[in-house]
Formats: sequence, structure tokens, C-alpha cells
Amino acid sequence: MSSFAWAVSLRKGQNIVGTDAAHPSTIYPWQRVAEQSGCELRLVRGDGNGYVDPAEVADRIDDQTAVVSISHVEYRTGQTYDLVSLARRAHSHGAILAVDATQSAGQVPLDVRESQVDVLVSSAYKWLCGPFGVAVMYVAPRWQEQLKPGIVGWRSHANMWEFRADRLEYPKTARRFEASTMAYGCALGLAKAVDLLAHIGAPRILAHNQALADLLGRELLARGAVLVSPQHQAERSSIISVRFPGKQADEIARRLNAADVVVSHRVGAIRISPHLYNNESDVWKAVETLDAILA
Ligand SMILES: Cc1ncc(COP(=O)(O)O)c(C=O)c1O
Repeated sequence: MSSFAWAVSLRKGQNIVGTDAAHPSTIYPWQRVAEQSGCELRLVRGDGNGYVDPAEVADRIDDQTAVVSISHVEYRTGQTYDLVSLARRAHSHGAILAVDATQSAGQVPLDVRESQVDVLVSSAYKWLCGPFGVAVMYVAPRWQEQLKPGIVGWRSHANMWEFRADRLEYPKTARRFEASTMAYGCALGLAKAVDLLAHIGAPRILAHNQALADLLGRELLARGAVLVSPQHQAERSSIISVRFPGKQADEIARRLNAADVVVSHRVGAIRISPHLYNNESDVWKAVETLDAILA
């Protein structure tokens, strides 16, 4: 994302639209370029639970907007944005839509062509089930020859085996964003993980994960949890984030993890992310462990 942020030539008077509920990695690159260029960073504020009204995001986009940088699925709540309408809105003002898919790729079906996103990046180590140290990037064909990467290295040159330090000609494709010698082992690991996910298929993964999330959500609600994640089908993912009023979320998360129920504590809530390697007995184990903690 950083290499892309520096590839967009921003000027004073322009703005970048994002949300304050986004993961810092979705926003920091833009904060840095905003600081350098003097353009405005507009972060739409989430409510107390971190829910962001998508209509407000659309409202903040105007003719001075150069970039909309959004996390397709928000890391705290699992809130999912409609990329088709965001892309339409951004493009109607001549803005680029940059998507961080780190919390969506691998759990939510995602079609970069249909949604018309301009640029998409995703770390590999979450729902893609890949290793640390590798990420993927998509650049829409219409941008591939226009963007000069912000981070360059010897592999940025079209014919890198020329080893010409006196000139730099970028490849005509998104490969221009591959700057340097990469972690090839990690890339191979990611390729295998993607093969596995593709073999199972995005719709099946979604149905499996959401069935587990539904069961989990029902059981947590029955135990007095307040659901922080949106429940409307169009805005939800498989992430279930909850609070227990009067109880410390960090302490509950710590005790669940100590009992081998792997959850995260994120900004006052407990985040649970069932994926293809989980089954109903994992959900029941989580619920029973929670019962013991809350007792
Ligand atoms: C939406 C999102 N983007 C980015 C990251 C972090 O990615 P990286 O470690 O590659 O900066 C996370 C991690 O939780 C995330 O949830």
C-alpha cells in the first residue's frame, strides 16, 4: 500500500477519504503522503462500536478526492463494504479506490473486475492462510502503465538482468511494484494456500464460516454478549466481535487463549474469526470455556 500511496501524485487541495475504524496499515501510508503533499486526510468516524456508515463515506467523496482507501472488511467488527457502489462513487468524482483486502480475501468472495476497484492489496497471513512475509497486490489494467511505484529496487526495471544503474524503465504490468528480491519461500507457501482455497471455493468457505459464526453469535447472545459486528447480511462477514457489559474483554480473551480457544482482543471487544479449519465442536469448546470464565 505504501508503494502505491507514493505512486499517486497528490497535491495540496486534494483529499484522501478513509475511515478511523480501519486498521492502521490501511491508513498510515496515506497519512504519510498527506503530510508530505499537504493534502487532506478525511477519516469518517465510526460509532462507539466502530461501525462506519457507508453513506457517510460516500458523502465525504467530492471532486477534490484523489483516493478512497478502504478496508473491505474492517478488522475490529468485520463490517464489510459494498465495493461496487464505493468504486462507482469514487470514479464519478475521478478518484481512485484502493482496497485493503487483508481481512476479506479468503473469507468473502471478491471479484476485482466486477467491483472495478483500482488497486487492491492483501497480506497473506490471515484468511488466505499463507505465511508471514508475503502479500499480494492487484492493479487494474488501466493503471498499470501510469503508476510509478513509490518503492523501487533492481527488479523494478523492465529487463532487470541488464543491471543498468543509469536508467530505469518500468515493466508495463503490475510487476513494476515488485521492487526487490523477494521471500520466494513465502510466495510459494502462499501459492499453495491459494490453490487449496480455490479448490474448496469461495462460496463454500463463506457458507461454512457464516454457519459457524451464526451458531457462535446465537450462543454468545444467550450469554448476555453485546454484538459489535453488524448483523445485516450485506454488511457482515464471518468475524464475530462481542463485548460482555461489565466484564474486561482483554481478560476474557486472555483466558480463552490460555485454554487454546484462539481469539483476539481488539479495542474493548473479543474478536472471533471462524474459518475453514474450524468446525462446530470448536464453537462448543469456545462457548463452554466462556461459560467457565463468566461463571
Ligand atoms: C485490514 C488489515 N490490514 C492490514 C493488516 C496488517 O497487515 P501488515 O502486517 O501486512 O501491515 C491487518 C492486520 O491485522 C489488517 O487487519
